[in-house]
Amino acid sequence: MQQKITQYTSEITNFQSKNAEELESFRIRFLGTKGIIKDLFEAFKTVSAEEKRVLGKVLNEFKQMAEAKYQALKESLESVEKSENSELDLTLPGEGFELGARHPLSLVRKEIIEIFKKLGFNVAEGPEIEDDWHNFSALNFPEEHPARDMQDTFFIKKGGEKGDIALRTHTSSVQVRMMEAGKPPFRAIMPGRVYRNEAISARAHCFFHQVEGLYIDENVSFADLKQTLFHFVQELFGEGTKVRFRPSYFPFTEPSAEMDISCSICKGVGCQFCKYSGWVEILGCGMVDPNVLENCNIDSKKFTGYAFGMGIERITNLKYQIKDLRLFSENDIRFLKQFQSEMI
Ligand code: PHE
Repeated sequence: MQQKITQYTSEITNFQSKNAEELESFRIRFLGTKGIIKDLFEAFKTVSAEEKRVLGKVLNEFKQMAEAKYQALKESLESVEKSENSELDLTLPGEGFELGARHPLSLVRKEIIEIFKKLGFNVAEGPEIEDDWHNFSALNFPEEHPARDMQDTFFIKKGGEKGDIALRTHTSSVQVRMMEAGKPPFRAIMPGRVYRNEAISARAHCFFHQVEGLYIDENVSFADLKQTLFHFVQELFGEGTKVRFRPSYFPFTEPSAEMDISCSICKGVGCQFCKYSGWVEILGCGMVDPNVLENCNIDSKKFTGYAFGMGIERITNLKYQIKDLRLFSENDIRFLKQFQSEMI
């Protein structure tokens, strides 16, 4: 009898029912009124009193085990049935989640930073809310300079220790902060968002992004500036891109220039984008005015330097031929998805 029970125990342990019929025949076979357990209890009556003491416990445990197994199988069958009947269709394919995309301005900013990093430039950052000193006065803007007008600058507060508080109009303010805080040589670029009070249109926005650069050391010349920017353009727009410098004016540089590159869209032949001139302007630059150096406590007899500044939107327009600036701030995923790059 003991042997039989052991055999049945392993049979029950291994039993798995695929459906209600199989489970029912399991019940009849073991737990039914004419089932195995009933028979075993019948046989139990005939064994000796001594054997009963041992077998009684074994038999009871066996019965409980068979019942528990039946109960567990029954419950799992029922729960499967329940989920099959519910409205949830677990066989439907899952909903995929959409991957985002890098903003084209971020891609271009990253590319610009990489190029200058290889030339030994650090990345410097500063506040977007600036005082008059860092945004204008230290940069040699005369008191009555039109760029300080309400038209160009978003003023926040009048007065203050270092003049009116405003949203920075360029990241040259970071150059001032850097020169004030350290000692030359300086070699850094300043990427960041800047604000100008302009009506929003396809060609102008009230905020945009810049990368400015500053290099101050002994014996820095305009030739260094030209060579650095020439190299930068070859890296960003490809070998063979031509550059030209036109004299210009900025309060903080002397001499000053604007740099054009041969139109990357028509390769200099002439198109709508370059207004059929074959050239497009991409940045302003020049030798840092000695007044600016002195304002930042740098000896202008000993040190010279150059600075440059470009708009990331303008460069991105050229690289990707995006004609409407407003697209950059609308965050339409269909627009953003078009600029996946190997730099991700
Ligand atoms: N700060 C200038 C601008 O915002 C750009 C510039 C930077 C020009 C450095 C010359 C030198 O337009």
